[in-house]
Amino acid sequence: MSWTARQRAMLQEMGVGGWLRHVAPATVAVAVEAPPEVAVLHAEPAPVAPPAEPTGPAPQGPRPSGVETMDWPALREAVAGCTACGLCRTRTQTVFGVGHERAHWMIVGEAPGEQEDRQGEPFVGKAGQLLDNMLRAVGLSRGEGDAERQVFICNVLKCRPPGNRNPDPAEVAQCEPFLLRQVQLVRPRIILAMGRFAVQSLLRTDEAIGRLRGRVHRYAGVPTIVTYHPAYLLRNLPDKAKAWDDLCLAVETLRAAERAD
Ligand code: URA
Repeated sequence: MSWTARQRAMLQEMGVGGWLRHVAPATVAVAVEAPPEVAVLHAEPAPVAPPAEPTGPAPQGPRPSGVETMDWPALREAVAGCTACGLCRTRTQTVFGVGHERAHWMIVGEAPGEQEDRQGEPFVGKAGQLLDNMLRAVGLSRGEGDAERQVFICNVLKCRPPGNRNPDPAEVAQCEPFLLRQVQLVRPRIILAMGRFAVQSLLRTDEAIGRLRGRVHRYAGVPTIVTYHPAYLLRNLPDKAKAWDDLCLAVETLRAAERAD
């Protein structure tokens, strides 16, 4: 199958070159690919020696209660003031999420990196630029549009792990009620989980992304498509073709659900 002019334009938006000529666009029946190794979660080079984490007693802040019934303002406030895990001591600010509060598409990444911690918005670095291009390729945007076109982007963790280290299971456990409430409030029609960490946290699995791609999962009852983290794609250009397939699968899944409604 060859790419149409429109698809070529979309791939151009994603920064995918002519080498994709022989890659067929995905359909809902896309086959599961051989599992590639996913080694890199962040675009920023890993620091030689991660900054030391403050020592001392764990934060004594209360675990947020009543999260499951909060509205948007209460949830924002609870996240901003959360001291339930040690990440509150090293963050500059929490990173709540951005986009349409009733978006059809919800994008879930891992955790804020250095720039996100500084700016208070998810995916603002180079990986974020690639994410924006990928979204644009299928007619979506983080910045403007109606619920159909403007996505909601957030992370599993709302605070940056120091030195971009992997999130700790205890940190995820403390933070997940926030993500769950965000999903309940947005009520997305599709979730795109990006990167090994987000995928494995949402789906409660330790399977590799390569084994999970190409089929529809569910998180909190919402159809969920898994794909590579944009930072990984920046270092593994050939896998952009697979990310494109994943995006197409998400589009097709959403369309199929809308047709069935
Ligand atoms: N990586 C993520 O997973 N999320 C961000 O917000 C930034 C980088």
